[in-house]
Amino acid sequence: MKRLEGKCALITGAARGIGLAFAQAYIAEGARVVIADIDIARARAAAASLGDAALAVEMDVTQQASIDAAVAQAIAGFGQIDILVNNAAIFTAAPIAEITRSDYARCFDINVAGTLFTLQAVARHMIARGQGGKIINMASQAGRRGEALVGVYCATKAAVISLTQSAGLNLIAHGINVNAIAPGVVDGEHWDGVDAFFAKYENKAPGQKKREVGASVPFGRMGRAEDLTGMAVFLASSEADYIVAQTYNVDGGQWMS
Ligand SMILES: NC(=O)c1ccc[n+]([C@@H]2O[C@H](COP(=O)([O-])OP(=O)(O)OC[C@H]3O[C@@H](n4cnc5c(N)ncnc54)[C@H](O)[C@@H]3O)[C@@H](O)[C@H]2O)c1
Repeated sequence: MKRLEGKCALITGAARGIGLAFAQAYIAEGARVVIADIDIARARAAAASLGDAALAVEMDVTQQASIDAAVAQAIAGFGQIDILVNNAAIFTAAPIAEITRSDYARCFDINVAGTLFTLQAVARHMIARGQGGKIINMASQAGRRGEALVGVYCATKAAVISLTQSAGLNLIAHGINVNAIAPGVVDGEHWDGVDAFFAKYENKAPGQKKREVGASVPFGRMGRAEDLTGMAVFLASSEADYIVAQTYNVDGGQWMS
């Protein structure tokens, strides 16, 4: 028996990167997966590559109407949502003296409000259905401590850890487990963008920051999206029924807590 047989998952920001790797892993464990992303063309291509068990849905987690529509489309398509992964996020970096209100607002809108109000919409469905569920928020090692150039993004991920604790305590009464994963540094398009920020602010050559952070990970290299799928499947499965409001580091030894 596969570990997610008969389950339906909604994954935000699943058109690429970590979210797409989770979609592949969930389908391999017997689930059907809604690939929800603001980049609908890429979400459709991703879903097509995954076959009948995947459904692409356009979703902008900053818009309540879009959240509600995506949840409704997921339920219409697959009948229910048993698992939510709040994965959509953006990265931003700047010295404190250069942070702008608009960048702050955009990052908090996607990373924090997007996580909270998608969680709320799916939790309402799960509560009404009465069969519990699993909600996994994507935090980060950045949420565990500050970083000189990454104040806003770090603060959003600290907020995700805090919301995971509060929502976890509130929703377990309905059999809904809310937990989070805190990755370290995971190679991919997201980190291509991070590398570009550091090239600008630390005067580094393209690719240099990646090489430096990879070499500094105790495991010996940057993470890959596939390094996170074991935890994502576990937290979505019944094996995690007694786990409530936790954030798990999956980071090659970067952070200990
Ligand atoms: N890559 C890393 O090193 C790393 C480390 C720690 C935490 N994380 C977290 O893991 C998660 C996934 O990271 P990733 O590396 O796959 O990122 P990514 O940038 O490759 O993918 C993010 C996805 O979110 C989508 N998205 C952006 N804004 C959206 C919106 N408003 N509504 C819906 N979708 C939107 C994008 O289109 C994209 O497909 C994020 O929450 C990220 O903060 C990543």
